[in-house]
Amino acid sequence: MTRRKKLIVVFAVVAAAVVASLLVAWIMHVRAEKMAEAEREALYRKFEISASGKKRFVPMPPILAHHSPRAMLGRQLFNDRRLACSQRLVCGACHWLGAGGTDSRIHHAKITRPVHNAVFATCYMHDGGISNLHDVVRTMIVTPYFCGGNSLDVVLSRLSADAPLVKRFESAYEDEGGLNGTNVVDSVVEYMKTLITSGTPYDFWCAGHEDSITAEARRGSEVFLSARCMDCHDGPALGARKVSNGRKVPALRGLSLRKAYLSDGSVKKLESVVPLMPGGDLPQEELAPLLAFLGVL
Ligand code: HEC
Ligand code: HEC
Repeated sequence: MTRRKKLIVVFAVVAAAVVASLLVAWIMHVRAEKMAEAEREALYRKFEISASGKKRFVPMPPILAHHSPRAMLGRQLFNDRRLACSQRLVCGACHWLGAGGTDSRIHHAKITRPVHNAVFATCYMHDGGISNLHDVVRTMIVTPYFCGGNSLDVVLSRLSADAPLVKRFESAYEDEGGLNGTNVVDSVVEYMKTLITSGTPYDFWCAGHEDSITAEARRGSEVFLSARCMDCHDGPALGARKVSNGRKVPALRGLSLRKAYLSDGSVKKLESVVPLMPGGDLPQEELAPLLAFLGVL
């Protein structure tokens, strides 16, 4: 074989290997995308129970949507005045993204709940009365005391006057009807899939990196378990999965960013909330580490 022929063979083998690995990566990507949400949920839940059958701390799953065109549309709408009746009450006006997704203020007698990690919740609102994130977003848009109470038709008539936006909806929801009420809501939900607080020191600690949080906070995690806080505050968000005493059990992740607690915002200090909890009446030597732990969530 001439040198030239050898080179061609080597080149063909390398090219075939590159093409094959790209193909495998693409197939894996498509499979992951297609993995039903229920399957994904089941996979995460599998890690939540230890070999001894006890619930344990689990890290937040990674961001699900990244910068998909749908999520990018939702990001725009989250701060888009055309969604709001007074054209002022955009989602971001109450859900402050830099403050854990809440302004910690009271609207219509209820505190704004964080939008971060909302995609992992199975019940929403102060009484857990809504079980589906699409329904929550729709409610936020059409209820007077949230976004002002525009019907989706009014929102659509405003948005449909914006030709570039209509085009983006057409390409992001090509087979699903482009710009319509369902897709406006869906894009905001897709955006919320990017509002996930993964990769914090707490997540690293959950994954086995002991020194990611302080020794005091680690002691607090023991108190959290022995005081049975996890009976209610469980899963990757440490809550948001059930209702207790007519109140949604809130997620505890991002707690240190909030300025008021409980669904009516009546308690302003974290150390005053804990004693109100079942199992929360603890001696000072347990309360202090527990508060340190709650501070790293
Ligand atoms: C005027 C302030 C305000 C505006 C504007 C607003 N929200 Fe809310 N949001 C709240 C309050 C208050 C709650 C808690 C309601 C309750 O507990 O019953 C809430 C709850 C939520 C929740 C449920 C959180 C949970 O875990 O239970 C989500 C998700 C949410 N809002 C998303 C949005 C989106 C998306 C928009 C824009 C379309 C929006 N909100 C606009 C104040 C607001
Ligand atoms: C029986 C269920 C249950 C148990 C056990 C429980 N909690 Fe709660 N927790 C709740 C509910 C329900 C709320 C919300 C009450 C409300 O909104 O008025 C809450 C709220 C909280 C809040 C306020 C969060 C916020 O953003 O408003 C903190 C902090 C908290 N719990 C910590 C703890 C700790 C620490 C323990 C263990 C000592 C514990 N909880 C045990 C059900 C429980």
